[in-house]
Amino acid sequence: MKRSIILLSILAFVLGGCFSAKVAGLGNSDVDRMQTKYPGLTLDQLKQGQSLFESNCATCHPLKEPKAYTEEAWAQLVPGMSKKVNDNASNTLSESDQDLILKYVITMKTKP
Ligand code: HEC
Repeated sequence: MKRSIILLSILAFVLGGCFSAKVAGLGNSDVDRMQTKYPGLTLDQLKQGQSLFESNCATCHPLKEPKAYTEEAWAQLVPGMSKKVNDNASNTLSESDQDLILKYVITMKTKP
């Protein structure tokens, strides 16, 4: 019994570490870096973009790597792929959703 409590604590610690690492992947330094390109951008918008990307863009194929495509390609791909999402799913990605996805992807792409 005591052992399982210890194991559970270790598991919680390890999982906690993963989640905080993921949140740390997107931070205020990203917002600052992207201000010139996207004036008024907030961390909240980037997180929304990430969540929209992760929940809508990995149903047909694994999530594509932001650094694998040029910025011009992403600007074409996001609306094109969002159309696929919208044709397939009951929820739809609005234009502002697509804008958030693009901003998130470009932020990750240009991350040093
Ligand atoms: C209804 C299915 C479907 C959904 C949903 C979908 N895709 Fe795709 N996507 C495809 C298919 C099919 C291809 C072509 C085969 C491949 O590369 O896996 C593709 C290819 C891609 C490529 C590679 C394009 C290239 O020229 O190499 C990218 C990048 C991409 N998708 C991004 C996205 C993003 C971003 C989203 C969410 C907005 C998304 N996809 C959602 C079906 C989908």
